[in-house]
Amino acid sequence: MNIEVLTLFPKIFENFLQESMLGIAIREKALLVNLTNIRDFTHDKHHTVDDTPYGGGAGMVMKPEPLYEAILSVKKNRDIPVIYFTPQGKLLTQKIVTEYSKMENLILLCGHYKEIDQRIRDKFVTEELSIGDYVLSGGEIPAMAMIDAIARLQEGVLGDIDSAMTDSHQNGILGCPHYTRPPEFKGMKVPEVLLSGNHKKIDEWRQQKALEITLRNRPDLLKDDK
Ligand code: ADE
Repeated sequence: MNIEVLTLFPKIFENFLQESMLGIAIREKALLVNLTNIRDFTHDKHHTVDDTPYGGGAGMVMKPEPLYEAILSVKKNRDIPVIYFTPQGKLLTQKIVTEYSKMENLILLCGHYKEIDQRIRDKFVTEELSIGDYVLSGGEIPAMAMIDAIARLQEGVLGDIDSAMTDSHQNGILGCPHYTRPPEFKGMKVPEVLLSGNHKKIDEWRQQKALEITLRNRPDLLKDDK
């Protein structure tokens, strides 16, 4: 899979793309992430990327011209989804991540300052996504969240694909508690059932715990309309 990231701050991504599972995915070429600096598409002396909003008000708006050229440079007339990260977007969920993880190409557009000029959204953006009901200073952290979530679903990235399939949210509910050695740590014991070797019982226990956690922390996930 090939992900094009358009940002004013490509350096933010550099360490992130080299570490842990993502580093492996990229080194093994399960994923290719290309960073493009939107500022490279300015033509004035000061490399201006933002301007004051029409109609007045606080904050700056990203100018359309550099964004237009930057998007065209990676899109190259191909029909590729362009995601723009904004608190106004639809909430990013594991279902959405799973759908995008199957695509060959994806463009992630990171805004900064207030927003980007609406005309760029109207012309190019195919989906607007938010990572939660809070405001960040730009789309870089949301883009990193999306890249990480997509990478771990690529074939050959997780040692055991079953591991991804039993994660929180993959089945519509949260995950269960996990334990590893030793069986007793500072007086705290691993639940007996996990040491029993009885896989039917273990599965039932995990399902029960996952439901309890979901009911406690995210009862909205258990509603019928989900
Ligand atoms: N840009 C700023 N805040 C954001 C959020 N919560 N989600 C996605 N993009 C954003």
